[in-house]
Amino acid sequence: MPRYEIRIDNTGETYVCADTRTLLEGMEALVRRGIPVGCRGGGCGVCKVRIEAGAVRTEKMSRRHVSLDDEAAGVVLACRAYPMSDVQLKALDTMARCVERGCTASFLDAARRAQRPTL
Ligand code: FES
Repeated sequence: MPRYEIRIDNTGETYVCADTRTLLEGMEALVRRGIPVGCRGGGCGVCKVRIEAGAVRTEKMSRRHVSLDDEAAGVVLACRAYPMSDVQLKALDTMARCVERGCTASFLDAARRAQRPTL
């Protein structure tokens, strides 16, 4: 099975991810605190990233979190994206905050905050 190098622009970290694993699963394999994992099903939006270079294939993602325009700009949910080449990505929103600072909150708390309506 092909394996690709994934680079997280926010931190400069890299990891290897097989084409059968999602970008999020690969990040978790870093065994690093700060990777927010919510629903793992494309519904909560906490794992949003933008593909800066490389190719991915995606499964169904919530349009609430990734609009068609977002998707056209390379935004995907890491739990629904599989690498098809080496990939350079930038973590966004909740994912960026956690990756850059090392979140200590539980993954589910991160998911709940992401789903909280804006007033
Ligand atoms: S973990 Fe919920 S959308 Fe990816």
